[in-house]
Order: sequence, then structure tokens, then C-alpha cells
Amino acid sequence: MLKILLTIILLLTFTISVMALDDPHGSAASINCEQCHVTHSSLGDILINSTDALISTLCLSCHTPGGWTGMSKYFSSSIKAQPGVSGTSHAWDVDTANTGLGANQPQDPELLAHITKDGKVTCATCHDPHSNSNPPFLRMDNSADQLCIDCHRSRNQTSVKTYTGSPLSHPVGVALPATSTFHNPPLDTDGNPQPSDGNTSNDYVFGAGSTMKCTSCHGVHYTDSNSGTVDGP
Ligand code: HEC
Ligand code: HEC
Ligand code: HEC
Ligand code: HEC
Ligand code: HEC
Repeated sequence: MLKILLTIILLLTFTISVMALDDPHGSAASINCEQCHVTHSSLGDILINSTDALISTLCLSCHTPGGWTGMSKYFSSSIKAQPGVSGTSHAWDVDTANTGLGANQPQDPELLAHITKDGKVTCATCHDPHSNSNPPFLRMDNSADQLCIDCHRSRNQTSVKTYTGSPLSHPVGVALPATSTFHNPPLDTDGNPQPSDGNTSNDYVFGAGSTMKCTSCHGVHYTDSNSGTVDGP
């Protein structure tokens, strides 16, 4: 038993000694492991300063006005989406499976390892607070909506279909048609041709080869459901 315990402590010390934090979650903002983790008498299974269900609370404790020095990227529970009711930010602390909204438990092992024990999405399901390899601190590259589609895979419809009686969804992964009756490039949200009007802040965002994505139309946080307008506090 003692041997097993020692091995666990050694493993943990090793993991801790090799892990570094990417800024702004690192030394530039005077953040270190102890801001988020406690090594003794901690509540959760991940030595975090809260239980699993409180991961989002941990994030919000700094990501609130006045929560951490100079914080400009703040959130509050009131912006959390309650589909069809209110909210301007993708939901958290909700079940990962929601058939009506095309959401399923994630398949990617990295995402799957970071839902709570009772199957809920947290901030840390989509974000890795330690690493900014996929900005902004995302668990995976989302340039072709890989993150969105891992959960919302039933909405990953890649062709235009004829209605069969089953629910359909706007196609994604398809290039904009290059016909004169189709706006390609499209008009941005001011009704000006993008990007030639010189204002890229309200352009629709497409994937490689001008392909449609979920995030061509949907924002994630502080969104008015229009990715072409400037969102955020
Ligand atoms: C900004 C907050 C924050 C900081 C700073 C932080 N962590 Fe974490 N860490 C988390 C959260 C949240 C989780 C749990 C994620 C989950 O399970 O969904 C976690 C999980 C872990 C895990 C488990 C593996 C994993 O990815 O789930 C290890 C090991 C870890 N942290 C080590 C460290 C070390 C070492 C440092 C300092 C170099 C550090 N952490 C700094 C928030 C933080
Ligand atoms: C100890 C305080 C602290 C905690 C806890 C914390 N953050 Fe942060 N985070 C910061 C600071 C400071 C910034 C920089 C904010 C700014 O530029 O206004 C930041 C920035 C970010 C960014 C934006 C990075 C970028 O380059 O734009 C993301 C994403 C982020 N945090 C996610 C999280 C998530 C998810 C959690 C919970 C797992 C979390 N944070 C917990 C302090 C914290
Ligand atoms: C469903 C996945 C998902 C969840 C859940 C989620 N985020 Fe995000 N977050 C993203 C994506 C994707 C982006 C980048 C696109 C964007 O900024 O609109 C992002 C961007 C951010 C940013 C950077 C915003 C900026 O202006 O640079 C911060 C900070 C952040 N998230 C914090 C959080 C916090 C805190 C939570 C929980 C309260 C959370 N996120 C929950 C997916 C998610
Ligand atoms: C970890 C799984 C997961 C990931 C990753 C994820 N979602 Fe979701 N999404 C959900 C769940 C679960 C709901 C239902 C929320 C609820 O029950 O309140 C949802 C709801 C939504 C809604 C409906 C919001 C509303 O208010 O009607 C939209 C739109 C959406 N997601 C878009 C996205 C986009 C875009 C991405 C990628 C940036 C993404 N999702 C990534 C699980 C996920
Ligand atoms: C062409 C723009 C466009 C694209 C591309 C798009 N959506 Fe939507 N989506 C919308 C609009 C507009 C609504 C609101 C429809 C309504 O309120 O009836 C919506 C609603 C939703 C909803 C909530 C309402 C519902 O009926 O389920 C979810 C979840 C969602 N979209 C997910 C996705 C995902 C995931 C993708 C990528 C696979 C995607 N969307 C691609 C425009 C788009």
C-alpha cells in the first residue's frame, strides 16, 4: 500500500514538474498551479480547488469584473445560454447529451476525459487551462469546427438534401457556389462586399476553400448568433 502511495506521489510530482502554463494563464499574469489546485485536503478527484461540478465556478472566479488584475474577458452565469429562452454564451454545466439540439457525449478522448463524472460540459471540456497550443486555450484545433462537430455530430450534414420528413440542417464543409446569382464573396453584416470594404471585423468566417462552417453563422461567447458582428465585453 505504502509503495503504491509513494508511486502515486512520485508520478504526481513528475507530472507537476514537467507541466508549464501558457500565458496569460502563467507568470505574465502572476498565475501558478496553486491559484487553481490544492495538494492537500482538496475536494475533487483532480486536486482542484473545487469539486468537478465547480470547475466553471473556478474559471468564473477570475473571469469576472475585478476577479483578477486587469481582467477584460469576463463572464457571469447570467450570459449562459438557456436555449430558446435567454443567454449569449454557449451553455456550460449542462448534460453533454441533448438530442433536440444535436448534441451527444463527445467522442474525442481528450474531450471525453474532461466532462464531469455525471456527464456535464464545463468550461474545461472545451478549454485546456494549461495550454494555448490551440488558441484560445482550446482542447483541439477548431479551424474546421472539429470541436463543435465532435459533440454536435448529427448536425454535420455535408450536402444539400431534399426533405424526407426527417429533421435536416444547413450544410457545412461545402464551398460557396461560385455563380453570379450567389454572393461569393458574400456581403458582410453591413451589406458591403467582404473583404474588399476594408473592414474585416464583421466578415463571415469560412473554412479552407471558402467552406461553410458552424462558426460561419454561430459565435460561442457574447454572441448575438451572428459571427459577422463584433461580440464581447
Ligand atoms: C487556471 C487554472 C489552472 C491552473 C493555473 C493550473 N491548472 Fe491544472 N487543471 C485545471 C483544471 C480546471 C483541471 C481539470 C480539468 C478537467 O478535469 O476538466 C486541471 C487538471 C490538471 C491535471 C489533470 C490532467 C488534466 O489535464 O485533466 C494536472 C496533472 C494538472 N492540472 C496540473 C497542473 C499543474 C502542474 C499546474 C501548474 C504548472 C496547473 N495544473 C495549473 C486548472 C488549472
Ligand atoms: C487565477 C485566475 C484565473 C483563473 C482561475 C482562470 N483564468 Fe483564464 N485568464 C486569466 C487571465 C488573467 C487572462 C487574461 C485576461 C485578459 O487578457 O483580459 C485569462 C485568459 C483566458 C482565456 C483567453 C486567452 C486568450 O489568449 O485570449 C481563456 C480562453 C481562459 N482564460 C479560459 C479559462 C478557463 C476555461 C478557466 C477555468 C478552467 C480559467 N480561464 C480560469 C486568469 C484566470
Ligand atoms: C462548447 C465549448 C465551449 C465552452 C463550454 C466554453 N467555451 Fe470559451 N470558447 C470556446 C471557443 C470555440 C472559443 C473561441 C471562439 C470565440 O471566442 O468565440 C472560446 C473563447 C473563450 C475566451 C476568449 C474570448 C476572447 O475574447 O478572446 C474565453 C476567455 C473563454 N472562452 C472562457 C470560457 C469560460 C470561462 C467558460 C465557462 C464559463 C467557457 N469559455 C466555456 C468554446 C467554449
Ligand atoms: C462537449 C460537447 C459540446 C461541444 C464541444 C459543443 N457543444 Fe454546442 N451544445 C452542447 C450541448 C449539450 C448543448 C445544449 C445546451 C443546453 O442543454 O442548454 C449545446 C447547445 C448549442 C447551441 C444551441 C444554443 C441555444 O441557445 O439554442 C448551439 C448553437 C451550439 N451548441 C453550437 C456549438 C458550436 C458552434 C460549437 C463549437 C464552437 C459547440 N456548440 C460545441 C454541447 C456541445
Ligand atoms: C447558414 C448559417 C448556419 C450554419 C452553417 C449553422 N447554423 Fe445552426 N443555426 C442557424 C440559425 C439561423 C439558427 C436559429 C434557427 C431558429 O431559431 O429557428 C440555428 C440554430 C442552431 C441550434 C439551436 C436550434 C435548433 O434548432 O437546434 C443549434 C444547436 C445549431 N444551430 C447548431 C449548429 C451546428 C452544430 C452547426 C454546424 C454543424 C450549425 N448550427 C451550422 C444558422 C446556422
